[in-house]
Amino acid sequence: MKKIIALALMAAATLSTQAQTFPGTKPVTLVVPFAAGGPTDRVARDLGEAMRKVMGGSANFVVENIAGAGGTIAPARVAKAAPDGHTLLVHHIGMAATAVLYRKLAYKPLEDFEYLGMVNEVPMTLIGKPQLPANTYRDFENYIRANAGKLNIAHAGLGSASHLCGLMWQSRLQAAEAMVTIPFGGTAPAMNALVGGQVDVMCDQTTNTTGQIEAGRVKAFAVTTARPLSSHKLLKDYPTLNEMGMRGFDLTIWHGVYAPKGTPPAILAQLNDALKKALKDPEFIKRQEGLGAVVVNDKRVEPANHKAFVAGEIAKLKPVIEAAGKFAD
Ligand code: MLT
Repeated sequence: MKKIIALALMAAATLSTQAQTFPGTKPVTLVVPFAAGGPTDRVARDLGEAMRKVMGGSANFVVENIAGAGGTIAPARVAKAAPDGHTLLVHHIGMAATAVLYRKLAYKPLEDFEYLGMVNEVPMTLIGKPQLPANTYRDFENYIRANAGKLNIAHAGLGSASHLCGLMWQSRLQAAEAMVTIPFGGTAPAMNALVGGQVDVMCDQTTNTTGQIEAGRVKAFAVTTARPLSSHKLLKDYPTLNEMGMRGFDLTIWHGVYAPKGTPPAILAQLNDALKKALKDPEFIKRQEGLGAVVVNDKRVEPANHKAFVAGEIAKLKPVIEAAGKFAD
């Protein structure tokens, strides 16, 4: 009995030492399930900088892009990473969408992770290559219908936000034939193809599209939010799909942070505290809002509420994805 107590005391002392010295000089890696330069990568880099400022000292955050399979390779890697607080996952609505779209995921979204809190919500924009012969959403929709089956739509893999948006938009459009879908490792490479005219259409997050729209490198036709983005200097000029007749169309891309199951509670608390403070950083807020994103400032920054929200999103997306009848595996 004494040996058990001694072992327990040693374990507790080790855990407390870990928390006291965390993060030490070893960087905290933010794993991003998509290619560098895309919207998810952008959130991770901005967040990492804001958390580094809060944690101060030797804290250092690095981003690792593990793209592929619609963003399902990265969570599988993080779920198996050492639960020491040095490997975190920054992911978006795909954490819920893939739970429905993939019937054989290599991880359990609700069981294999410690939920660290939500970060932001990002609207999406329906955009086209510069050569597309349409300037309003109505023209755009008529052109898509008139060329049913001949046009393609780019996305970041099955289960990505861009894929989900394309699925939802096309199921409401009900064109005679579905568009050909072109997958990429993320919407950064997809955007290059769109700007270059190699693909025709994409639905992507404003964190990636605002600059391209403003520079005239792509054409924008609509936003995916329920209400117009009237407070954004550029995006306020575009109608919602809801206004264009797709009643109830409402899609924003939320992002959250996750650690491997079993990460010590004291380290989780430290990371959640740093996240909460980072979300109040004026510089972080300014950068995010400049790109149309809304930083979360409600109870979903609490781990338990973050997890409950994701569970709700899985339940909400299940009928949407099952109605489209297209599973990824
Ligand atoms: C998505 O479509 O899921 C993301 O925008 C992909 C990315 O961040 O590149």
